[in-house]
Amino acid sequence: MQYEEFRRQYTAGGLTREMLDGCPLRQFERWLEEAVLAGLKDPTAMVLATVGEGGMPWQRIVLLKGMSHGGLVFYTNYGSNKARAIAANPLVSLHFPWNELDRQVIVCGRVEKMTVAESAAYFVTRPRESQIAAWASRQSRPVSARALLEKQVSVLKERFGNGEIPLPDFWGGYRVLPERFEFWQGGEHRLHDRFLYRRQHEGGWIIEQLQP
Ligand SMILES: Cc1cc2nc3c(=O)[nH]c(=O)nc-3n(C[C@H](O)[C@H](O)[C@H](O)COP(=O)(O)O)c2cc1C
Repeated sequence: MQYEEFRRQYTAGGLTREMLDGCPLRQFERWLEEAVLAGLKDPTAMVLATVGEGGMPWQRIVLLKGMSHGGLVFYTNYGSNKARAIAANPLVSLHFPWNELDRQVIVCGRVEKMTVAESAAYFVTRPRESQIAAWASRQSRPVSARALLEKQVSVLKERFGNGEIPLPDFWGGYRVLPERFEFWQGGEHRLHDRFLYRRQHEGGWIIEQLQP
């Protein structure tokens, strides 16, 4: 296979300063809405990049579950590798690869933990199977066989019966408070449009156009 042959023009449209909202969160919500309307399969899927102890970077996909207090929210296991990396270094980056729209959005910022009440409010909205899966998995730890996980699920199903499944104390949300946002729109002949928002100490955002 010749990887060099996978090449295309980005013709979905241009991006100008006039088209941008002064607030990156509103601009982001507008683009996310367009990603949903375009029928993207996982419009809220974002790559979360962390730098853990020893400066080692890693990435994985998580789902954006909301915006709150000016931040982007996702949920996960507080004992997972990503949680350990965040504890060592709360600065992270998010990436939305909306390739079908010739777009990407890149964010960096500081992570804070959601409150137990906030996490519990989300946890009750999850399907029962997902709630049990959260209990069953010590995320990122080794497991010798899938059968052990399945056994764990049946033990938990038995234990919870038809009752309410509580929020595990090792599971919950994080909120990424953005410092920077880049909106990228692919352009013809690789002359892409890029705009970077930087949060100002005194409040508000500076918008700068970047070379492709
Ligand atoms: C489309 C998609 C959505 C995902 N959403 C989540 C999520 O919201 N939360 C989560 O903890 N893991 C999610 N995962 C699994 C993660 O990518 C990852 O495997 C897991 O969180 C363990 O990561 P870690 O070992 O780096 O902590 C998702 C994976 C995919 C492919």
